[in-house]
Amino acid sequence: MPVEIRALTPDDHRAIEQIAQFCTHAFRTIAPDYMTTVEEAREEIAESFADDRISRVAVDGDSNTAIGWIGGILTYEPFAWELHPLAVDPGYQGHGIGRALAADLETQVKARGGLTIYLGSDDELGLTSLHGIDLYPNPLEHLARIQNLKRHPYEFYQKCGFVFTGIVPDANGFGKPDLLMAKRVG
Ligand SMILES: CC(C)(COP(=O)(O)OP(=O)(O)OC[C@H]1O[C@@H](n2cnc3c(N)ncnc32)[C@H](O)[C@@H]1OP(=O)(O)O)[C@@H](O)C(=O)NCCC(=O)NCCS
Repeated sequence: MPVEIRALTPDDHRAIEQIAQFCTHAFRTIAPDYMTTVEEAREEIAESFADDRISRVAVDGDSNTAIGWIGGILTYEPFAWELHPLAVDPGYQGHGIGRALAADLETQVKARGGLTIYLGSDDELGLTSLHGIDLYPNPLEHLARIQNLKRHPYEFYQKCGFVFTGIVPDANGFGKPDLLMAKRVG
């Protein structure tokens, strides 16, 4: 399947609708309250067109269908960008699309003079061994012993070259941390 990755633009109505559709399904197993409706997804996509953002879409060249979406937010100008969000259409997962999108974002950030891409990936649903426990007084010791119980995407990011840089205990309520990861790209 030929896959093209290109900029997503506000006039790309067809791709925007396709992304909005698959985003309402893609996050169910990781962030059940995020982009639950097509309207919410459209708003998220619209926000990705701001000046301090990067918005890139993966398109299946055979069917001209949008199958993945990645965004970047310039948070520490000009050096560090947050990766947010990333989703691959559930019907196309496991075929290297996510890895290709992450690599594409790295190229985009590097071209803008960025040095670092970082991200937060929540564990709200017990996907890792760090869910449901008190991480204090040594959160980093817990992080060093993390186990992936139900395919939390941190392992995907590790395969893309990201490393753990920290953890926000209780970010989503007690025992629901946010895992922080980063990668040098410049
Ligand atoms: C996470 C996600 C973007 C990965 O995209 P993908 O196209 O399925 O991933 P790829 O096929 O490029 O996978 C690359 C590697 O990561 C691994 N991988 C992918 N998802 C994984 C997961 N959830 N847990 C563990 N490993 C994973 C693959 O097995 C593959 O490993 P390999 O190179 O050894 O074969 C996709 O599953 C998705 O959209 N998930 C729902 C939304 C989400 O979780 N977004 C991230 C929130 S922070």
